[in-house]
Amino acid sequence: MSAKLVIAMVGLPARGKSTMACKIARTLEFDDAKVRIFNNGALRRKLSHANTSSPEFFSPHNIQGMELREKCARINLELARSYLENEGEVAIIDASNVTRYRRKTIEETFPGIPVFFIECVNVDEEANEACLEHKASLKEFSSLPSAEAFDSFYRRIAHYESIYEPLHEERNRILVDSFEGCILQERISDVVPYYDRIRDIITTRIVKNLFLVRHGETYYNQEDRIGGDSDLTANGLAQARALADYFADIPVPIIFTSNYKRTLQTAAAIAEKQKNCSIIALTEFNEIHAGICEGMTYQEIRQRMPEVANARNRNKYGYIYPQGEGYVTMEKRVHRGLQKVFYLNNYNDNIMIVGHRAVNRMILSDFVFRPKEEVPYIYMPQNRYYHLQIDPYKKHCELEPYTMGARLTPGNGAAGL
Ligand code: F6P
Repeated sequence: MSAKLVIAMVGLPARGKSTMACKIARTLEFDDAKVRIFNNGALRRKLSHANTSSPEFFSPHNIQGMELREKCARINLELARSYLENEGEVAIIDASNVTRYRRKTIEETFPGIPVFFIECVNVDEEANEACLEHKASLKEFSSLPSAEAFDSFYRRIAHYESIYEPLHEERNRILVDSFEGCILQERISDVVPYYDRIRDIITTRIVKNLFLVRHGETYYNQEDRIGGDSDLTANGLAQARALADYFADIPVPIIFTSNYKRTLQTAAAIAEKQKNCSIIALTEFNEIHAGICEGMTYQEIRQRMPEVANARNRNKYGYIYPQGEGYVTMEKRVHRGLQKVFYLNNYNDNIMIVGHRAVNRMILSDFVFRPKEEVPYIYMPQNRYYHLQIDPYKKHCELEPYTMGARLTPGNGAAGL
């Protein structure tokens, strides 16, 4: 008989628990384990037609609210127990589980089966804020203006915070920084099946499909000018529309962009053809800032500032534009942008980033190793996009055309779409 395991997530709302639960479930399934997630919030929304999204519902003083939440927790535990008694091997209890009482109940429900608590935290205030903003924009809060939705979610979290009891007596537990994707603490007292595998999954970036797109042609591109914040040309808009048609049947729930018009305009065209798609602009994905050379053509730089052109030619990766940036100084911010992407993306299979030439090179090199001196020369055309797939077993990166007729099929690297 195969080993059985209960994984119980712990953490405040919007701390990456469901994303982590999903990542673990999918990877273990890939290893042929029988895994199921039992999500208390999803059950609550299914069982109750009343408004269970208001912050008051989550107050520890709201008896009705508490009863409904406890009822959902009990039902899910029973479902998980019956699943493990039958074909199931791993049951994941996806809920906040912030009180000792709730965690003790979980332990007592599964005598003889190890319970492994995975506590998710994120101390990065900016990422938390971005996450709340995104959650507040989702369907659950669609009846509220965005500031109210944000406030409502914020107050919900405060209620959970007020009853949060730190993990202490739990025999098997791990504390994870879900933004950084690293393990902060762990204590394991029993034999926990899949333990090493789960550690690997927590710390490995898993990407089902990442579509790395460059914005359409701009007026600056036409003149070979660098930087600036120029609009898409008619040709650029046509490229954006072709991208939109190409991705129309491929669900892309979030498109990440920079703050510049050219990426936002490209993303807007794509989003228009999607059923449910939000755009999140990240400053981390803004194009390399060329300092005193912003707005110039490469030829003008060669003529008027040969020392800049020559120095950049000698060491393009390490060169920093006067009063601007270099590839070398973009490293950290682009990496941080990617961390935000994975934190905000929840467990969506398909991620799209619409970026710029230099920034996309940096993004690509964050996934696929390239010697630093080669990074500033990675081919980054406007009529194709990079398709990346990464899991613990493989890294796949392909440059795909998006012209009509060149659709993604399982045969050309898009299995499961
Ligand atoms: O020309 C478009 C652009 O995105 C500029 O804004 C940017 O300075 C440049 O490409 C980056 O490419 P490279 O590092 O090859 O000059």
